[in-house]
Amino acid sequence: MPAFTPTSDDLFTFGLWTVGWQARDPFGDASRPPLDPVESVHRLAELGAYGVTFHDDDLLAVEPDRERAVAAFRKALAETGMKVPMATTNLFTHPVFRDGAFTSNDRDVRRYALRKVRRNLDLAASLGARTYVCWGGREGAESDAAKDVRSALDRYKEALDLLCAYVKEQEYDIRFAIEPKPNEPRGDILLPTIGHALAFIDELEHPEMVGLNPEVGHEQMAGLNFVHGIAQALWHGKLFHLDLNGQHGPRYDQDLVFGHGDVKSAFFLVDLLEHGGYEGPRHFDYKPLRTEDPEDVWVSAAANMRTYLILREKARAFRADPEVREALRASRVDELATPTLAPGETLAGLSDDGFDPDVAAARGYHFSHLNQLALEHLLGVRGAA
Ligand code: GCO
Ligand code: MN
Ligand code: MN
Repeated sequence: MPAFTPTSDDLFTFGLWTVGWQARDPFGDASRPPLDPVESVHRLAELGAYGVTFHDDDLLAVEPDRERAVAAFRKALAETGMKVPMATTNLFTHPVFRDGAFTSNDRDVRRYALRKVRRNLDLAASLGARTYVCWGGREGAESDAAKDVRSALDRYKEALDLLCAYVKEQEYDIRFAIEPKPNEPRGDILLPTIGHALAFIDELEHPEMVGLNPEVGHEQMAGLNFVHGIAQALWHGKLFHLDLNGQHGPRYDQDLVFGHGDVKSAFFLVDLLEHGGYEGPRHFDYKPLRTEDPEDVWVSAAANMRTYLILREKARAFRADPEVREALRASRVDELATPTLAPGETLAGLSDDGFDPDVAAARGYHFSHLNQLALEHLLGVRGAA
């Protein structure tokens, strides 16, 4: 039995705001004390993580003086060797952002939001971050009368165009990643899904500098298939980063431990990430349950990584199993990679090759067998690789 012990080679990262979540929700007060980012860096390093990510405001959790907070954070990074591959801006907590940041109806707020991002971008670059996430949690509305969506998209584009131009001027090695989410905290959020965000990116001044940071729960709370979304993001070359967590279908954003929601989807997701060419950090954006005490937080942090490693092992065993290979062939899964027309063939010249639709219609695809094999690997009743 493998140990499933993470090392920095596994590229596991955590937002400071995940383990540091004090579990304040719309119905109840915080159930845990504030957590010093310095402690988070040390504890996560001990657990085998590769790095941490942060919002500007996360650094101020216990030290309100920004310079002192940044100095303490840098020291913790140097002591542990932890990296900061991604950073982001909090454009949602302060009530000034209650109608949005880049797309607030209030122009002064939009200008303030840009200054807030610019300041943290400078810090992110100095810490070596290569990805800057934009989660527009407050960019949206509760009433269709309250927001001119076409103007809002103009302003969203303006903001991203300005940020890309700034990064180029400063010669930072940073790309932006938009994080789609359909709702919560706004009634309806702009760029609600992977597909909406992909289409938006195409309209930007520097589309090559902007990709996606999709989150498991955000697609699943819209009833969408996250594995399909990630596959399409990879297909477009836009999977710059991602947020791993767990969710039980369409309801509020649960941010469960990775694998503690739809575990079958988590299995196929890990299979895709490991075999589909994604090389970036495996970033967890989860919330330790409100029921947990400060020590339980680290148990849940470790659970995310352990679950990923278990699923990675299972995905490898699935791919290596001769019966699975045979089932994939029998289901003609690999045949889909063959272009439909032969080289040089044209649609006008396409002949019927004696094809009989009734004969073809009688051939089953045997997908139930394939699905069962996957499930049995996941349930641990089929051997390891
Ligand atoms: C959420 C979001 C956030 C973002 C984070 C980074 O639903 O709360 O997922 O956790 O990922 O703000 O931008
Ligand atoms: Mn997220
Ligand atoms: Mn979420």
